[in-house]
Parts: sequence; structure tokens; C-alpha cells
Amino acid sequence: MQNIYDNEHFFAEYENMRGKEINANNLIEKPIFFSMLPSLSGKRVLDIGCGSGDFCRFAMSSGASFVMGVDCSKNMLSVAKSYDDGITYLNLSMENLSKLDDKFDVITSSLAFHYVEDFDKLIGDIANLLKDGGELIFSQEHPVATAFKSPKGGEIDKKIDIKGKRYYLLSDYNNIGKRIVKWNDSGVIKYHRNFSCIINTLIRHGFVITSVMESYADEEAIKKEPKYAYQNDRPYFLFISAKKL
Ligand SMILES: C[S@@+](CC[C@H](N)C(=O)[O-])C[C@H]1O[C@@H](n2cnc3c(N)ncnc32)[C@H](O)[C@@H]1O
Repeated sequence: MQNIYDNEHFFAEYENMRGKEINANNLIEKPIFFSMLPSLSGKRVLDIGCGSGDFCRFAMSSGASFVMGVDCSKNMLSVAKSYDDGITYLNLSMENLSKLDDKFDVITSSLAFHYVEDFDKLIGDIANLLKDGGELIFSQEHPVATAFKSPKGGEIDKKIDIKGKRYYLLSDYNNIGKRIVKWNDSGVIKYHRNFSCIINTLIRHGFVITSVMESYADEEAIKKEPKYAYQNDRPYFLFISAKKL
């Protein structure tokens, strides 16, 4: 397991990007993710890959009865823990969720699942942690964004502009597995899964899919950052909500 958020250079760049008002998290990811949430009032909530705790604080302020955030990064958790808000944070990786002896009504995860290699185990562990009727809502990088595989094992230019129209290269869509991409000058390890792999894993573990969304940018977002119009050519993010029967 790579813990890139504890690389000081990467972490500083990431915090800098997230600290800005205009970024893909604020303008694209969060509005869609939040629109898919059930009521959190009185619920026991677990957030996986909680980072600096934005969602945990939202859950707490929405009336959740108990909120736990887990993350493998000590850097991220130190920011999360700097707020005195009654949230329980654990330095625990997604690979080790089976160590938790607890039950939750709602489990969420925002932009973290593409970092896990064994998706089948992750979803199985989540199913065990959810009460019957409990809900899982997660976002991850979209399979059309994670598919591309460079022959050199790193990022190469994946887009072509022709007369102002942007085209993206797509390769290895059905080749599930490890990808190394350059982000903030670091080689970040992610795992590509095609759409059927993601959906069938959820079904296999007893989930019913209740909603699927793909990222888009609304007029307001495009006005603030024109490049987000390219979401129409290739979405960055995939969002799924599912209920455990
Ligand atoms: C893009 S950040 C998202 C943080 C937060 N969910 C948010 O939306 O603000 C991804 C987070 O996933 C965490 N992460 C990555 N791999 C992980 C793993 N194997 N186990 C637990 N957390 C992991 C990182 O440390 C980081 O905090």
C-alpha cells in the first residue's frame, strides 16, 4: 500500500490545491456527492479515506449520532484532529477495515477507492460493517480516467486538441490493475477497474445499486473554471450509492 499523502512534498501541494476555492473537489465532486446522501440525522456514519475530515464534520453537523473517519495518512489525520468536534479518527487503512468491530448505518468514501488493490475484499468488509438496510455512498476516479496505461509506466500526454475540441486517449479499459500516474511531481499508484467490475463486486456482496452518477460541470462551475466544460468529453469522477439488503 502506498501512503503518498504522508510524502511531505505531495501533501503540501495537495493542501495548497484543496485550500483554493476553485478546484474540482469543490466545484464538481462535492455537489454531486452531497446530492446523493441520505439523511444523516441520528445515524452512525463511517467515512473511509476521510482525509482532513471535511465530510466527517459535515456528517456531525447534520445530526449524525456517531461519526468515525479512517485514513492511512498521519498528515491528513493531524489536520482532521485539529478540530475539537467529537469525531472519532483512526489511523487505519482501507485494507484493514475488518479490524473494526462495529456497525454503521451509512458508510461513505470520497475519492479514495481507486487507491485500493483488492476491491472485492474492501466491499466485503464494508458489507460486514453495515447494518441491514445500511447505505454505501462513494465517489472514485471514473474508469475512463483511470484506464489509460502508458508504455513507460508513467503519465504521458493523454489529450489532443483539434480545432479547440479536446479528445482523450483511451487504452487498456478492460485491463484491470495497477496504474502509476504523475500527480504533484510524484508517481501515484492507483488501481483501474472497469465499470462492470465495480458494479458486479457490489452485487456479489449483496448490495442493490440505488443511484449512479458521472461528473459533469454546471454553468456556475464552468463560469468559475472554463476547463471544467471538458467534463462533457470525459468525466473525472464516478459516484455510486448502494444499499445492503
Ligand atoms: C483525494 S484524498 C480525499 C480525502 C477526503 N475523502 C476528501 O474528499 O476530502 C484521498 C484520501 O484517501 C486516503 N487513502 C489513500 N489510500 C488509502 C488506504 N489504502 N487506506 C486508507 N486511506 C487511504 C489518503 O490518505 C487521502 O486522505
